[in-house]
Amino acid sequence: MGVYMPERRLTNADLERLVETSDEWIRTRTGIVERRLAAPEEATSDLAVKAAEKAIVDAGISKEDIDLVIVATVTPDQTFPSTACHVQAKLGLRTDIPAFDMVAACSGFIYMMQVANHMLRAGDYKNVLIVAAEKLSSIVNWEDRTTCVLFGDGAAAYVLTKCNEPYVGILGNILGADGSQGELLKLPAGGSLHPASYETVREKEHCLQMQGNQVFKIAVRTMSDCCLRLLEKCNVSADQIKCVIPHQANLRIIDAVARQIRIPLEKFCINMEKTGNTSACSIPICMEESYRAGKFGPGDLILLTAFGGGFTWGATLIRWK
Ligand code: UT7
Repeated sequence: MGVYMPERRLTNADLERLVETSDEWIRTRTGIVERRLAAPEEATSDLAVKAAEKAIVDAGISKEDIDLVIVATVTPDQTFPSTACHVQAKLGLRTDIPAFDMVAACSGFIYMMQVANHMLRAGDYKNVLIVAAEKLSSIVNWEDRTTCVLFGDGAAAYVLTKCNEPYVGILGNILGADGSQGELLKLPAGGSLHPASYETVREKEHCLQMQGNQVFKIAVRTMSDCCLRLLEKCNVSADQIKCVIPHQANLRIIDAVARQIRIPLEKFCINMEKTGNTSACSIPICMEESYRAGKFGPGDLILLTAFGGGFTWGATLIRWK
C-alpha cells in the first residue's frame, strides 16, 4: 500500500473566506475539517505515481514484476491517453503489460479491485498495480458552496498479488449501478454530448454538479443494502467484522449505514475530517491509514463499501493476510 497526499491544506476557515459558509456548518453537516489540494502543476498521474512508488516498495517487488496497471479516477490528466498510460510511462513499467482507466467515480476503488481480482484469479496476471488518484480541485466550482466544501485531492496505490491460500484476500464482492439517476451527480460538459465551448465554460459546466440531498438518501440505501447482501452471500455475521472502511463522503451517511447494517459506528474507520471526499481514493487512503494505526491485522475481516456518481456502488469483503 502507498498513499500520497498533496502538501497544501485547505481548512474550513479558508473556505469561510471563499464562499458564504461556516466551519460549524461544514463540521456538523459533513464531518470534514480540512482537505488537501494538489499544486497547479501537479496532474492526477503525478499524485498516482507518488503513491504507486511507495506501494511497490511496500510490496517488496520491483517495477518489472508489475504485469497490469489500472487507475481509478474521474479527474484524468486528459480524456486520452488514459491516466494509467501516463502512470505506466512515468514509473517506467514494462511495455508488454496492459494499462487502463476505471471510471466509476467514488466506487472506483471497489470496482477496480474486483476487476483485478478476477484477472488474477483467471491466472494470466501475478502482480496488479491498482491506483486511485483524484485532483477533484480541478473540477470543483469554487463559487458553489454546496459542493466546494466537500472535496479534496489525493492518491492511494495497492499491489494485489496472486495468492493460492483459501479464505484469504478478497472473499466476496457485490457491485451495482443505476445510470437512470446519473443526473443527480455529474460533470455536464467536455464530452461528446457537450463539447467545450464558450457557453460551457461561462456556465461552469466543466465543474462537478450534485443534488446532495437526494444523493444522500440513495447512498445510505444502496450501501446498506449491498453490505447486508454481501454478508449473507459470504455467510459472515456483522459481529465477525473487525472494521468497516466506508467511502468518506459524509459522517451522517456513515452513521446511517452503521445503524442500518447493525455494526457499531466505533468499528467504522473514518478520516474524512483530514481529507474531505477524495472520491475513488477515500477507501484506500483510509484503509492504509487504519492498518498502519493497528486497527486491524492478519486474519481480520474487513468490509469496504462505496457509493458514487453514475450511480455506482458496491461492497467488498476482505480477510487481511
Ligand atoms: O461521494 C459521492 C456521493 N456524494 C455524497 O454521498 C454526498 C451526499 N450528500 C451530502 O453529503 C449532503 O447532502 C450535503 C453535505 C452535500 C448537504 O447536506 P444537507 O444536510 O443535505 O443539506 P441541504 O443540501 O439539504 O441544504 C441545507 C441548507 C440549505 O439552505 P436552506 O435552503 O435550508 O436555506 C443550503 O443552501 O444548507 C445550505 N447549505 C450550506 N450552508 C452553509 C448548503 N451548503 C452549505 C454550506 N454552508 N457549504
